[in-house]
Amino acid sequence: MRFISAVVVALSFGLSLASPSLETRRVVHEKRNFDPPGWSRARKLADDVVLPMRFGLKQSNVDRLEELLMDVSHPESPNYGNHWDPNQIADMFAPSQESIEAVRAWLHSAGFAPERIKLSNGRGWLDVKATTAEVEKLLDAEYHVYAHKDGGEHIACNSYSVPSHLREHIDIILPTVNFDTRITPRPSSNKKRSTERKASINKHIVTTGQKAKSPPVPSSLANCDENITPDCLRALYNFNYKPIATKKNSYGIVEYTPQAFLQGDLDLFFGNFSPSLVGKSPTFISIDGGVAQTEDQSFDFNGESDLDLEYGMTLVAPQQVTLYQAGDLVMGASFNNLLDALDASYCTFEGGDDPNFDGIYPDNQPGGFNQPESCGIVKPANVISTSYGSQEPEMTAAYQIRQCNEYGKLGLLGVTILFSSGDNGVAGFNGLCIDPATGQEVANGTRFNPDFPGNCPFVTAVGATQINPGSTVNDPEGACEQVIFSGGGFSDIFAMPSYQKDDVLSFFKNHPPPFSAAQFNNSQKARGYPDLAANGANYVIGREKQIDGEFELVFGTSCSSPVVGSLITGINDARLAIGKKPVGFINPAIYSPAFRIAFNDITTGGNQGCGTPGFTAVSGWDPVTGVGTPNFERLLALWLLLP
Ligand SMILES: *[C@@H]1O[C@H](CO)[C@@H](O)[C@H](O)[C@H]1NC(C)=O
Ligand SMILES: *[C@@H]1O[C@H](CO)[C@@H](O)[C@H](O)[C@H]1NC(C)=O
Repeated sequence: MRFISAVVVALSFGLSLASPSLETRRVVHEKRNFDPPGWSRARKLADDVVLPMRFGLKQSNVDRLEELLMDVSHPESPNYGNHWDPNQIADMFAPSQESIEAVRAWLHSAGFAPERIKLSNGRGWLDVKATTAEVEKLLDAEYHVYAHKDGGEHIACNSYSVPSHLREHIDIILPTVNFDTRITPRPSSNKKRSTERKASINKHIVTTGQKAKSPPVPSSLANCDENITPDCLRALYNFNYKPIATKKNSYGIVEYTPQAFLQGDLDLFFGNFSPSLVGKSPTFISIDGGVAQTEDQSFDFNGESDLDLEYGMTLVAPQQVTLYQAGDLVMGASFNNLLDALDASYCTFEGGDDPNFDGIYPDNQPGGFNQPESCGIVKPANVISTSYGSQEPEMTAAYQIRQCNEYGKLGLLGVTILFSSGDNGVAGFNGLCIDPATGQEVANGTRFNPDFPGNCPFVTAVGATQINPGSTVNDPEGACEQVIFSGGGFSDIFAMPSYQKDDVLSFFKNHPPPFSAAQFNNSQKARGYPDLAANGANYVIGREKQIDGEFELVFGTSCSSPVVGSLITGINDARLAIGKKPVGFINPAIYSPAFRIAFNDITTGGNQGCGTPGFTAVSGWDPVTGVGTPNFERLLALWLLLP
């Protein structure tokens, strides 16, 4: 019941105004057909619980986002690199006065006094605190408390309705049908956390518990097929660059509490591979009380953060890396908490709650972050790499589109947003696929299960490759088929962006996949991912205590994303050093024909899942490894030619 106590506020509302009858027909605005895996309905939500309702207004001009983004990101555009400032973005996309007034008038006529209706700073949301009874009447919905089998509760309804004339003004209403639960890994068995929720947003890293050949020889390229080290990656991707504009540049890596790095682990790694970094930590940005906790220590708690920082920091040294640590130890956080921290206009007014369970701050639970939500607290880094993801069926389309548009706005600002594409090939986390009859994720599902946010056309999704066993850094890599399979496929939600059209259509033409429309969105109109790839197998990570001072091998697109982030950071450095802008949203460039020579096309391996061999890596773009792996020197040369 912690959530409920967190949002129950002792307010006494005045009597409602007499509500004029709503003549307009109400229509279903969003609907969920099933409960997400692990959740079941526990009980009716009490009538007097106060819910912090947020009415997300349709933003203006979002239909122009792709065009605007292409204008500053396409290598042939005369405006290449002319990124926007935050005010321009807020002005362009703020909801129209008409939308604000239409929704406000509806709320008012339904009995909410004007002083109860608050417009958020960015003008994107109308916020109202309302009782369950009021909300159920307004939205023709029924609210229940849901319980997760591993503990934790969540409030949701199955569907809700709004007057038909308001549908064009409303994106989404929260809390309603979504289960975008916060990122909280399973706690260690002997620890009791009050928030024991299933992580529906997952790390993209796997260990087999294997040790590296120990100790791995830093500069040896002899065993890169068995142990990946920073030098293996430098050799693979032709990446030998020493940053010179570090004061002007920035590289952000995102972690979600209680995921945390251990300095001892970093130092073990640095001692072997980058001695100048021993004792060095990332610049720590705490979002919503984010802490690098040291109380729980295990692969589950430290593996992801250790990997991301050991490689990220080593590959860009002496560039300082920024760590965005999101969420306190009790509530946790999700992608929207990070976005709130980067963009004040994405936050709700009064630093308020996001009842979509993105992490509600202030968190008044014992040990919680009892301060206002982190809202616009930090200027986004030039490159931001995230090695976590979720699955398309777990959230509504409206929710995903809204978040995706926010990534697009960061692209307009000149930020490169990288996400790992998932580790289960065409399947989702835990190998779950979609039951075509219900749309639900199930163990025996037959429909491919797209990743989120890799499905978003405004992020750069990074898949995984491997050095084939017995091969060297000089041989072509294949798609990763050890322990994990590169996440890839086609969205059921997002349409194909223009920048990938030629490549995706030629993939369908030259290599038609042997699967039916029941198995994946084969309309040739859907967003395909990943966009590119980098090695994701056999990474040596330092794990001071758990592995007896030795090095552990890990696998995953979690490895790939920070490596690509490091390369892009190098390119930004070289551009900043000569007075140019960072590269920002890279997809229009990397898909452009001129850039093709800067990628190693991956043509072997596949991404099995859902009882199929998955897609196959072929010449040209494919939904396993994208356009291929990067060649830094060539990318640098191309990007230095651009304005
Ligand atoms: C999956 O298994 C369940 C339970 O055995 C069954 O009801 C369902 O039809 C199966 N679904 C598919 C797509 O095979
Ligand atoms: C496939 O993608 C297109 C383009 O986004 C979309 O209109 C269509 O509904 C999708 N089909 C399925 C079955 O999801």
